[in-house]
Amino acid sequence: MDLPFFKKKDVIALDIGSSSIKLVKLNQAKKGWEMEKLGIAYLPPEAIVDGSIIDSMSITGAITSLIKENAIKVKDTVSSLTGHSVIIKKVSMPAMTEEELSESIQWEAEQYIPFPMTDVNIDFQILGEDTEGRGQMDVMLVAVKKEVINDYVNVIKEAGLNPVIIDVDSFALENMMELNYTFAPDENVAMVNIGASITSISIIAGGVTVFTRSIPMGGNQYTEEIQRNFNISFKEAEDIKLGKESGSMEPVELSSVMNAVSTNLTMEVKRSVDFFLGGSPGVVINKIFLSGGGAKTKGLAELMQESTAIPVEVVNPFIGVAYDPKEFDEEYLKEMAPYFGVAVGLATRRLGDR
Ligand SMILES: Nc1ncnc2c1ncn2[C@@H]1O[C@H](COP(=O)(O)OP(=O)(O)OP(=O)(O)O)[C@@H](O)[C@H]1O
Ligand SMILES: [Mg+2]
Repeated sequence: MDLPFFKKKDVIALDIGSSSIKLVKLNQAKKGWEMEKLGIAYLPPEAIVDGSIIDSMSITGAITSLIKENAIKVKDTVSSLTGHSVIIKKVSMPAMTEEELSESIQWEAEQYIPFPMTDVNIDFQILGEDTEGRGQMDVMLVAVKKEVINDYVNVIKEAGLNPVIIDVDSFALENMMELNYTFAPDENVAMVNIGASITSISIIAGGVTVFTRSIPMGGNQYTEEIQRNFNISFKEAEDIKLGKESGSMEPVELSSVMNAVSTNLTMEVKRSVDFFLGGSPGVVINKIFLSGGGAKTKGLAELMQESTAIPVEVVNPFIGVAYDPKEFDEEYLKEMAPYFGVAVGLATRRLGDR
């Protein structure tokens, strides 16, 4: 129960990505959400590889400087994981209450998870009765390797913070969407979060995530292809990709290298969407929302729209967040919007919410 005079404890959200850490703190006011803090700290390329923490020192260091720069006092931290360390599966189980499932989840989940139960943390969300009405229900199962959770928990603790929730990127995006957009009950959208090393694809139907998949490619693929084709360093290739440096190559050559990667990425998204639609007859996807820094890739949204025949839009996680324009620069927020999709979603989580 939510008593209005017991304000829930504030948290800070840290989206620890492989290229940068995004920090957001939102205040839950009577009128709605207000922006209190926003920051980003870039990480060296080898700090996180394949979703695993390799260089915990630089991550802790980056978190510590973000906390300091933004004068953060709150310790409770919400963070998230993505990629192959997270297994999300929609499964069918005998209908039961949430309480009953809490008690039997280890046993029920065992057959679906390819790791020993002792190695993973399990969570779930009941999606409702399945359509065949045979006393079964659909459940979203989430399993994360304890080893990976521990690594993330440790870097947060070493920065002097208190990790209270470790979420999953796709679910954070679902919360971000709920905060910023309204949909008709029969509207379905695909979320495509293009990070530096991982792209996660999920489908939100009737406000609930019903499908997720992650693919090990993202912004780094563009940089690596530029690096390989023009025989330059990763750093130079990244700067050229971001338009910070012009490089000596012909612009047409550069865009043909970029387009090849965009085509691959688009094909992967299309495959996921088609796979989902194949198992859900009569369902349509009304829109694809892009987030993550990779959403800013020139020409990508247009290409995706053309090849999927679904409207594509880049998300703005700040629509539903009030902010003081004297404190937060509007142009900067517009520029950085896709980066902060996950972090804004995490920032709306409060301990005790389900
Ligand atoms: N204008 C742009 N054009 C192309 N790519 C861009 C642009 N801006 C940012 N990117 C790319 O976006 C990526 C960073 O996005 P993001 O911060 O969402 O990733 P991350 O969360 O650090 O990574 P991951 O989630 O994969 O671990 C980088 O690869 C970066 O080069
Ligand atoms: Mg990310």
